[in-house]
Amino acid sequence: MRNWIKDKYVVLTGASGGIGRELCKLLVSKYGANVIGVGRNEEKMRSLQAELGEHAHRFSYKLFDVSVKENWQAFARELQEKELSPSLLINNAGAFPTFRKLKDTPSEVAERIMQVNYFSAVYGVETILPLLKGDKKDKPALVNVSSCAALCTVVGTGVYSASKAALKGYTEALQLEQKGKTYVGLICPGTTATDLFSGDENTKNSALDLVAMRADKMAKKIAKKILKKKKRAVLGWDAKCMTFAAKIMPVKGPALICGIMKASKSKVFKEVFTNEEV
Ligand SMILES: NC(=O)c1ccc[n+]([C@@H]2O[C@H](COP(=O)([O-])OP(=O)(O)OC[C@H]3O[C@@H](n4cnc5c(N)ncnc54)[C@H](OP(=O)(O)O)[C@@H]3O)[C@@H](O)[C@H]2O)c1
Repeated sequence: MRNWIKDKYVVLTGASGGIGRELCKLLVSKYGANVIGVGRNEEKMRSLQAELGEHAHRFSYKLFDVSVKENWQAFARELQEKELSPSLLINNAGAFPTFRKLKDTPSEVAERIMQVNYFSAVYGVETILPLLKGDKKDKPALVNVSSCAALCTVVGTGVYSASKAALKGYTEALQLEQKGKTYVGLICPGTTATDLFSGDENTKNSALDLVAMRADKMAKKIAKKILKKKKRAVLGWDAKCMTFAAKIMPVKGPALICGIMKASKSKVFKEVFTNEEV
């Protein structure tokens, strides 16, 4: 595996927490990349900087909300002013609403999730893709972090699945359009132990803990796929099972997963299986 990101500049959204934080640590400390992390929480960024220790000089951060187009435009202007051309953009920042039936999910929540999970990547492509720099050996690179929920829709996460499926479709079209010009990767992780679900009280000490992979382990797998320039990666045993079920049985597969979730009687799905409607 050739380390093509050594000494290159990488823009990584969602670097302050979860998978992105672990990925940032790997890219900086193990692979020698210069990472510009994007997120909103300065405290988390500072603690990441401290954690990077002797490698901290390879890390800088920019605080902005990725769901706002103007923020991306300002960020792109700043990169240009500093004559800084990244070689890789990783759109990893994401948000998850609480597990709920769609009928109980306000459209405002759907809009917000779509903005963070889908439009942030669209803005990233619009503003940063033209700035990405390749060299003789390597083309510019862009990676979007979607989810296994894009490949097998999960009941109770309709809004999240829809946003990640939109990102998947967008990324696949980009792969075709950028063929020969840019390496475009689509990463679909399975359940990972991060703060993604922290807004939902019901997820604490729930069935999710049984399937979740450690964030550092997931980040390791993602880094390897990026270094190998894989176009598509489905990571985690739950992600692989769900994807397989939905691939061979597009209708019955997701229904089977739904049945397993219901049979688990876990409190995390409390709001989803009320009144036996699904
Ligand atoms: N965890 C899982 O089970 C799982 C499974 C499949 C896919 N994924 C995907 O993997 C990616 C990383 O998720 P994670 O599990 O690591 O989540 P996480 O622990 O909640 O971290 C999310 C990261 O995104 C940033 N972020 C969120 N909203 C933002 C916004 N509007 N503007 C800027 N930054 C924002 C957060 O930074 P600040 O707090 O500093 O804003 C944080 O660094 C997401 O795209 C997620 O959908 C996760």
